[in-house]
Amino acid sequence: MTTQDFIGKENFTIHTQTVTESCPSNIALIKYWGKYAGQIPANPSISYTLNHCKTNTSMEFTANEPFSVRTFLAGNEEVKFAEKIEKYFRNIEQYLPWILKGKYIIRTENTFPHSSGIASSASGFGAIAKCLMALDASFTEKTSEEESLRKASFLARLGSGSACRSLYNGLVVWGKTDEVAESSDLFGVQYPDAEIHEVFKNFNDWVLLIHEGQKSVSSTVGHGLMNTNPYAERRFREARENFVPMKEILKNGDMESFIKLVEHEALTLHAMMMMSDPAFILMKTGTLEVINKIWDFRRETGLPLFFTLDAGANVHLLFPCNGSEEQMKAFIEAELLQHTQKNGVVKDVMRF
Ligand code: PMV
Repeated sequence: MTTQDFIGKENFTIHTQTVTESCPSNIALIKYWGKYAGQIPANPSISYTLNHCKTNTSMEFTANEPFSVRTFLAGNEEVKFAEKIEKYFRNIEQYLPWILKGKYIIRTENTFPHSSGIASSASGFGAIAKCLMALDASFTEKTSEEESLRKASFLARLGSGSACRSLYNGLVVWGKTDEVAESSDLFGVQYPDAEIHEVFKNFNDWVLLIHEGQKSVSSTVGHGLMNTNPYAERRFREARENFVPMKEILKNGDMESFIKLVEHEALTLHAMMMMSDPAFILMKTGTLEVINKIWDFRRETGLPLFFTLDAGANVHLLFPCNGSEEQMKAFIEAELLQHTQKNGVVKDVMRF
């Protein structure tokens, strides 16, 4: 499929309407870091969609009014966010030709703490794209659910790249790779269920909130710094190559190799930040302390507790729901929680 396939039809009938949608966040296992014009990823990525960390959004559209956007986050008006959404809507007009023909009031709420550093742009843009497609469904000719979801993923990508993976449950791939049929740079696709070993279908993700608040470098700036990073091409190639073992691991349930690959991907993401010019570090002391404790714990117990990182200081603790969870949970509570700012942990699960 090409961008042309998503151009919107000119025959539509608009009317005033409010739609409400919800979309979860996701956490990448093979990371996307670096992009080309038009939100095209420099390498393919794969993520787990979370279950509890969600954004709930209602979109009130008043037809035939001058185009304007107001946004409210947890009841508080957010002018900066409204400006961002306004720009985004103008940018996607060719895909939804009715989009500038009315005014919007968008109310959005996250089920996770706002300042937690959990990627709210993924769930946020996912929910907005779903709302837009719900409006589109009532203004234009009916399309299939599959097509509508794909277009929501396509539109979410144009808001925030990784958001396109949040439209689907379970394991989701974004970015063209020969290892995954139907994969595309333009939208996310579900990783084939038949190719996933049972051990990967029921997983905990406990997010340790090491540092709450604004990040020192936004992901937009971080992606941009890959343009001049001397290691970028090697990194893009590595991410592409990592799909080969990942595919094998997902099929045969090799937990040890999974842990090694996922932790390597997380550390590589942060290594890229350190090798950017200017260099930046998003990990905090607590991040490193937690990582070292996880490695010690694994050496001592052999239990499959491991981590991944987003573009921030928080640590996503991954461990399968496998019957020996109690010991891992007790260790987290006793040893790792102390490295968070306010005993902050968001307990999520990936189940599909
Ligand atoms: O979607 P963005 O622009 O916020 O970038 C997200 C990048 C990472 O979260 C670091 C990795 C990923 O693949 O989600």
